[in-house]
Amino acid sequence: MRLSVKDIRSLKNKRKITMLTAYDYPIASLVDRAGLDIILVGDSLANVVLGLESTTEVGMAEMLHHTKAVNRAVKKAMVLGDMPFNSYQVNPEEAVKNAQRFIKEAGCDGIKLEWFKDCLKVTESIVQAGIPVMGHIGLTPQTADQIGGFKVQGKDAEAAKCLIEEAIKLEEKGCFALVLECVPDKISEIITKKLTIPTIGIGAGIHCDGQVLVINDMLGLFERYTPKFVKKYINLFPMILKAIEDYKDEVINGTFPGQEHTFKIKEEELKKICGEK
Ligand code: KIV
Repeated sequence: MRLSVKDIRSLKNKRKITMLTAYDYPIASLVDRAGLDIILVGDSLANVVLGLESTTEVGMAEMLHHTKAVNRAVKKAMVLGDMPFNSYQVNPEEAVKNAQRFIKEAGCDGIKLEWFKDCLKVTESIVQAGIPVMGHIGLTPQTADQIGGFKVQGKDAEAAKCLIEEAIKLEEKGCFALVLECVPDKISEIITKKLTIPTIGIGAGIHCDGQVLVINDMLGLFERYTPKFVKKYINLFPMILKAIEDYKDEVINGTFPGQEHTFKIKEEELKKICGEK
């Protein structure tokens, strides 16, 4: 049985909530086996898997394709689909239709969406359709151009007050949890204390109720850039490169495949083809 909204909400003030992204079957299997609470099929897919510049470049087709693979792997964690750019900003009806596709077609337990100007109406409609919604405020990559780029948000009193208000309103509209991305730790602390729903931080300090990272960042599988808030728990990129180079060298110098990787035919059968020597 997978973790439910009730399970996740009940962790607030008990223990920290653990969340990572995943985009395919093998990594989702590992994250689930490690016992993480939530797996997000993030639209960071665009950058870390598909090699695109911006998360605005992935749509429903790519997101559903990867989300289905993740859902095939996961038994225990809650799986959330990240609503891609333009799948929920157009109008609430379209947003509900697309959110339903993550649940019905891809097998998700809920969705996440980023703050934008009509976010409250859209969130309310999706919640009313019975779909659990995780909000996302602070740095919202899909609209980074409109909020001054990829920068820490809520750094002055006025901006911080806006973030606090957004958080409160999203809870009122029925979000079951909230991602805070690139927010000063003291502001995350204020938001976390004001809300009854859990906050999940990414670059938002230690006071959040849980933490999330992009898995390719924390495994050292994404070389293009590393944000300050990322901790690399392993650096897989050079390790995988070395394995691939070793394979290449062994194929060229004839040491792979070895006898242990080779299939045999019985001598008597071979003789029937090649004849006695
Ligand atoms: O797309 C993503 O990976 C995200 C996380 C950074 C929260 O939205």
